[in-house]
Amino acid sequence: MRVVAVANQKGGVGKTTTAVNLAAAAAELGWRTLLIDADAQANATSALGVRSSGSYLYDVLLGQAALAGCIVSSPWPRLDVVPSSMDLVAAEMELATRPEREYVLRAALSEVTAPYDLTLIDCGPSLGLMTLNALTASDAVIAPVQCEYLALEGLSALLETIRRVQSHLHPGLCLLGVVATMYDGRTRLSQDVAAELKSHISSIFDTIIPRSIRLSEAPSHQRPIIDYAPRSRGAEAYRELTQELLSRLATLPSSTLYRSGAVDGVSV
Ligand SMILES: Nc1ncnc2c1ncn2[C@@H]1O[C@H](COP(=O)(O)OP(=O)(O)OP(=O)(O)O)[C@@H](O)[C@H]1O
Ligand SMILES: [Mg+2]
Repeated sequence: MRVVAVANQKGGVGKTTTAVNLAAAAAELGWRTLLIDADAQANATSALGVRSSGSYLYDVLLGQAALAGCIVSSPWPRLDVVPSSMDLVAAEMELATRPEREYVLRAALSEVTAPYDLTLIDCGPSLGLMTLNALTASDAVIAPVQCEYLALEGLSALLETIRRVQSHLHPGLCLLGVVATMYDGRTRLSQDVAAELKSHISSIFDTIIPRSIRLSEAPSHQRPIIDYAPRSRGAEAYRELTQELLSRLATLPSSTLYRSGAVDGVSV
């Protein structure tokens, strides 16, 4: 199993949209996929219309439940979800006094025996203990960046965070790539920011996610874009990004954190 966090401490840059749609597209391609909603806003949970089984990530973080008990299936084949709820905020505070408090999610994930090939973690817009738990539980990070003014400044804060996590908590964490989101080809600003990202960030994904009404509508219909508007530009972009994600994952050494799964006989 590979675990990838979708993170950026800046709010509203497309983390949830990216996590939900990558998870759905990976599942469509045959990957047994788990999406963990690690944000108390629970946007990924509501975007897929899933409901908790009654066991919450909150209880897992406090050592009172197993992660497996929080997993619910989604209406889409091969896509399961760990839903979130508001009380994650409380869990974060209570976690503060626990030993090994940055590694609780990693420990809980390593006990999941269901054979997932890919786990995606949707992080909230903060650098609290929940996000640190998500990063220490991950093999790699994807960082969405909105094509807007000061995009690069926001990104340098994120890269600094990743470096700190690497040096203090999880040396094996890898930045898989930066993805430019909400690109509006009609504006000079979007074009300039996308060009700047391409020239400064070596890990930038070739796929650029366009600004699209369809993408912003899909969550209110509780469907991923590949189901809500399968032939839209947004759906195509997320399918392409998923291909890029999977091929980048294939170049990483096998997970040091978790047992490997297999997709079509290829170890992942
Ligand atoms: N490519 C896009 N085109 C149009 N709207 C988008 C696109 N990506 C995201 N949005 C919309 O922008 C808003 C913010 O996106 P999203 O929730 O994915 O960001 P986020 O980084 O997860 O936010 P937060 O930091 O609050 O968790 C949402 O209303 C979403 O529907
Ligand atoms: Mg979000």
